[in-house]
Amino acid sequence: MPAETFLHRAASDVPYFSADGETYLAQTQLRDLRKNLKLRVLSEEDFAFWQTYGYIVVREAIPADHARRLLDFTWDFQGLDPQRPQTWYDDREWRSDLDRELHVYGFVEAYHHQLMWDSRQTQRVYDAFVDVWDCEELWVTLDRLNLNPPNIKNRDRALIAPTDRGFDINLHWDVDTTLGVLPQRVQGIIALNDTTAEQGGFQCAPELFRRFEKWRALQPDDRDPIRPNTDPADFPVVRPELKAGDLLIWNGLLAHGVAPNTSPDGVRSAQYLSMMPALETHRSLRESRTDSWRTLSTPEWNKTLVGDATRHESLRYGPAALTDLGAKLLGLKSWSGDTDRHNGEQACAESA
Ligand SMILES: [Fe+2]
Repeated sequence: MPAETFLHRAASDVPYFSADGETYLAQTQLRDLRKNLKLRVLSEEDFAFWQTYGYIVVREAIPADHARRLLDFTWDFQGLDPQRPQTWYDDREWRSDLDRELHVYGFVEAYHHQLMWDSRQTQRVYDAFVDVWDCEELWVTLDRLNLNPPNIKNRDRALIAPTDRGFDINLHWDVDTTLGVLPQRVQGIIALNDTTAEQGGFQCAPELFRRFEKWRALQPDDRDPIRPNTDPADFPVVRPELKAGDLLIWNGLLAHGVAPNTSPDGVRSAQYLSMMPALETHRSLRESRTDSWRTLSTPEWNKTLVGDATRHESLRYGPAALTDLGAKLLGLKSWSGDTDRHNGEQACAESA
């Protein structure tokens, strides 16, 4: 069996297994999960909504003021002036087609700034993910920011050639929905500003999630595994309204996407942030995570994470200070309290 298909069992009582710390196999799908732990942040109604429609909004998961400071950072990091829209479309050189696509979609190549870690180690954010996984031993994704100005000029989506199959920015799944055993995945964003529908942002098809099993039983065998191709008249696409600091969590089996920004001068900004059961026995993954935090190297878990081309974040600031919760969510400390093993390895690494 190739190393990458080796399944690690997560450090939780609920049996979760994963090869990559991204998608998980579980005895019970998240939408059918019966809670053992008491709900912390979600109400019973929220939890029922989450299981029925595949997403939930946690209001002011981080304080609105923290979200605003992160928004300021998102402008600063790119050297863009929020007051001068002409700076949002400056000419630049692309390292690759991917680079240009990431610019069109508004990705911002920062991963480890203190403010980003402060969101990750916010108790209310963590508690919301404990609610949906029904497990406390979690790791946080090392992911980036988004700042999407109106999609015109060199950020026009028409610059990206449309395709007939596969990934579609408007609506897709991030897991293969044709598999017999459906992979479990949880994703999230924190809104950094208030946005109206015309500013674009997260959209999804909750009715398709609700009626998914019936729908999929009627589909041809060769259907697209990640692009739903459904008629919005049958399965409406909705754009949940988010305010600065709100956390939206969605199930990987919810078809979702990002609507273009069609406003005259508004922007849409978010931090990508999710949590999943900690794979503490996956040593190489754990080391790559802690190294990424310590040296501010661009995380390796996804090939679309490319790092900033002009001035990498490792040249701008040092590692973020972690709380006890933050250290566990990174993988620097073990959830079992067995910190000797973790620290021993860390000491070895540092003396090498
Ligand atoms: Fe996605």
